[in-house]
Amino acid sequence: MATTPSPYTPTIRHRRRDPVPLAVWPVAQRSAQYQRAGRYHPGCAAHPGKMLPALARCIVAEYSRPGQLVVDPLAGTGTTLVEAALLGRRAIGVELEARWADLARENAEHVLRPEHRQLVELHQGDATDLATLLGDDSGRVDLVCTSPPYACDVGNVDKANWDRGGDLCPTDERNYSTDKANLGHARGAAYEGAMATIYGACFAVLRPGGILAVVTKNTRRKGRTVCPSARAPHGGRRVSR
Ligand SMILES: C[S@@+](CC[C@H](N)C(=O)[O-])C[C@H]1O[C@@H](n2cnc3c(N)ncnc32)[C@H](O)[C@@H]1O
Repeated sequence: MATTPSPYTPTIRHRRRDPVPLAVWPVAQRSAQYQRAGRYHPGCAAHPGKMLPALARCIVAEYSRPGQLVVDPLAGTGTTLVEAALLGRRAIGVELEARWADLARENAEHVLRPEHRQLVELHQGDATDLATLLGDDSGRVDLVCTSPPYACDVGNVDKANWDRGGDLCPTDERNYSTDKANLGHARGAAYEGAMATIYGACFAVLRPGGILAVVTKNTRRKGRTVCPSARAPHGGRRVSR
């Protein structure tokens, strides 16, 4: 019987002996909404800056093996954790906001069958405390896969509210939270300093040879595009320990 391949299954992999790794993954041929529809918890729509499920899946498939440990220190709705567990990896997430940490747990419950759900662990806390939060798993992480706040305003557009003269984006979700301690509100040097600390914490929890994969998007400042990962301490390159 012919089976239809899942839209989330990465179909292109570079061979490890290739001198230049594959640079383009076709993970956005279907919209983010389509990738989540009927699969992810509907409450995820409230989070304003989620990773594409197919992208998380590609990274996990490419840079880790079944049975290994994947960590997302800025877990949001838990996209990385869900996709990693579906691929048979243990997955630990850290998220500052109780609201999103609870949603990530609900999401895992919603998407995953028990055998995969037991692979997921979620901590509410600050990513700068990653090593403490991971406890005995610190230093044993095979892959950190994360998408940081983007150092620009993020929000869910509510056009109807805007038409009524209200806010374009609900203020409680804008930049992830009203809490100014959330890095969604940090800009410039404050953002870069905090992210440098978090990338350092990621480096510290990786095992020797472990990989840090960071997904960012370019922002615009004064008419120029700025790549937040290129401003990171490791220059935004793939780094392994
Ligand atoms: C770009 S979002 C990650 C989205 C996630 N990949 C997903 O698919 O849902 C960044 C997340 O970092 C969280 N965050 C901000 N500052 C943090 C900190 N110091 N420690 C942990 N999480 C933090 C935000 O609340 C937000 O949910």
